[in-house]
Amino acid sequence: MSRTSIVAGNWKMNLDRAGSIALAKAVAAGRAQAGGVDVVLCPPSIYLSAVGDALEISAGVSPAGVGLGGQNMWDQPSGAFTGEISASMLVDMGCRYVILGHSERRTLLAETDELIASKVRAALAAELTPIVCVGEQLAEREADRTHEVVSRQVRGSLAGLTADDLAKVVIAYEPVWAIGTGKVATPEQAQDVHALIRSLLAELASPGIADGIRIQYGGSVKPGNAADLAAQPDIDGALVGGASLEADGFLAIAAAFR
Ligand code: 13P
Repeated sequence: MSRTSIVAGNWKMNLDRAGSIALAKAVAAGRAQAGGVDVVLCPPSIYLSAVGDALEISAGVSPAGVGLGGQNMWDQPSGAFTGEISASMLVDMGCRYVILGHSERRTLLAETDELIASKVRAALAAELTPIVCVGEQLAEREADRTHEVVSRQVRGSLAGLTADDLAKVVIAYEPVWAIGTGKVATPEQAQDVHALIRSLLAELASPGIADGIRIQYGGSVKPGNAADLAAQPDIDGALVGGASLEADGFLAIAAAFR
């Protein structure tokens, strides 16, 4: 099956309001160079409204074809959850996507696979596409535990999903040692884990469904290394941190996945 690649910019906790608007407009203006690739921006939640306006998002769609995503959400629909936002709030602001289970949240905020799975179910119920992040720490890779750790995260973070649900998710493999370090996984290292993830998805859903699920790579993706990653058979896009903060570089990465 030919999968439509998806390249998402995870801006993390960067930029200000004016910078967010300027970056979104620049990405929209140059977006045509990444035709055929799904392009998504995930600003800090406080700037979703400003970025949605800058992209002229209406009913989840922008004229330039740039999607909007949240970086996180809570798993309950509403209520006494100070500081949190719900799936329906993201949809209300024009989001079609939400990043869930990012390693920074797993590590700094102690998010568990159980909580992430609950968030994934809530996202799907609101018709958001979850971008579910998994990836091993450096010590785990060095102890040859990468497959064990990633398998546990995939099974745990996708627990309770039907095959139909699984068909709607995007997975992001982000080896923690490659995030923000400038140390990208080799294409072979990434492909090895992507193939593992696809085999797990085949087991959890079916081989046919697994064949259609997009699996992004994340971790120091730059314009200079994107093409080698994109050439791998099971790498269907990128989740880009630092390099997504500059429009030309981000678009060059997206274009590499055409
Ligand atoms: P960097 O691209 O800055 O390494 O970040 C990757 C990441 O965590 C994207 O979610």
